[in-house]
Amino acid sequence: MNKAVDTDDFNLSECIAADREHVWHHLSQHKAYEQTDPLMIVKGDGMRVWNAAGKEHLDGVSGGVWTVNVGYGRESIANAVRDQLIKLNYFAGSAGNLPGAAFASRLIEKMPGMSRVYYSNSGSEANEKGYKIVRQIAHNYHGGKKHKILFRERDYHGTTITALSSSGQDQRKDQYGPFTPGFVQIPHCLQYRCQYDDETNYGVKAALEMEKVILAEGPDTVGSVVLEPITAGGGVITPPEGYWETIQEICKKYDVLLHIDEVVCGLGRTGTWFGYQHYGIKPDIVTMAKGVASGYAAISCTVTTEEVFDRFKADPDDPMSYFRDISTFGGCTSGPAAALENMRIIEDENLLDNTTAMGDYLMEKLRGLQNKYEVIGEVRGKGLFAGFEMVTDRKTKEPAPEGMLANVAADCMQQGVIIGRTNRCLDGLNNTVTLSPALIATTDDIDELVGAIDNAMDKHARI
Ligand SMILES: Cc1ncc(COP(=O)(O)O)c(C=O)c1O
Repeated sequence: MNKAVDTDDFNLSECIAADREHVWHHLSQHKAYEQTDPLMIVKGDGMRVWNAAGKEHLDGVSGGVWTVNVGYGRESIANAVRDQLIKLNYFAGSAGNLPGAAFASRLIEKMPGMSRVYYSNSGSEANEKGYKIVRQIAHNYHGGKKHKILFRERDYHGTTITALSSSGQDQRKDQYGPFTPGFVQIPHCLQYRCQYDDETNYGVKAALEMEKVILAEGPDTVGSVVLEPITAGGGVITPPEGYWETIQEICKKYDVLLHIDEVVCGLGRTGTWFGYQHYGIKPDIVTMAKGVASGYAAISCTVTTEEVFDRFKADPDDPMSYFRDISTFGGCTSGPAAALENMRIIEDENLLDNTTAMGDYLMEKLRGLQNKYEVIGEVRGKGLFAGFEMVTDRKTKEPAPEGMLANVAADCMQQGVIIGRTNRCLDGLNNTVTLSPALIATTDDIDELVGAIDNAMDKHARI
């Protein structure tokens, strides 16, 4: 056992046996665990985590799913949560609490144009609140008609049936239908996989697809569109030039609310507080979760403009017109207490600037890999959020087989470096390696990360 791993009161072998016996892991086929132990991560510090055997790993994906933005082992967050729990751990969100109020005000300072924060505890739930807001506005102001919600091919908005209903990833959805009615898909905006004969003005063309859908459905039936600022699990898709300006214009033209899902980009991941802030967008609803408290406590926020909020207090005589939603654990004070300290760390340690600088460095290194390996078709990303598509032929862009990506990831793991890859998302298109190191990453960390990928590609991805 590595000295860095201190399992304290836990008996390690008993825990591993208990896990094999009783825990149903996320996104996992369990048959293999009848023969082998599942991966168990028992300690984290900075950019690093240790498994049950004491082996150290550089974490290139911030807790597997782009979450631990300020890195592991932050005592100041643990202390802030501990102190708050002793004062008051919980009271239902119909009442206010001190960290909830303080964090809302700090958050809104970072989001000019936005005004109200609604707390819950997962990205899926935050998005569902956004959908309920749109549906209730439709009922109270448009006779129930303007209730449809548009979503984009390749985007993901969560795991519950309605969040899945709004997700554009066929493999994530397969076998979980029937889905919630009133959600309508619009085409993706990945220029590398351009849908048109002529790529000129691709961003504007891709955005105009939304207008076609609105017109086909009827503008008086469409209430909102939910979009990731940069698509994450669907392949790290940075929007093409002209895309967002056109989307914003179309939203205005047809009175369609713009809901931006910042569950991955939120709080620093791309070098600005929010991904949408790179593109001059003025959203009506913004949702966030993962990086809000870097996984030190469960928290998600649905943030709206005052204009949206006003619609729920316009008629105090109508007992049904306010937002009649509740989330029990939205009243946990640990979430905003952790979020406040998480935000302080990002500011005091200049992590936004670090993310921009290290993100540029990471991109440069990945472009170097692209020059070396024919299999890398395109490198994409912003800040410390990057991915590259693997293809067996750069001309035809034939996606590399998933097995090849699995071998590269497994080899990196063997070397003590954790990387990500798109999986169980899109039929035939699970071919993007994904990277999202913590915002504290240094050039040495990036060198180690890319060095491991280089070694792994040399062995497993020569075409
Ligand atoms: C863009 C996006 N939105 C929403 C979600 C759902 O968040 P959660 O798993 O916290 O429900 C995710 C999760 O990966 C995500 O990537």
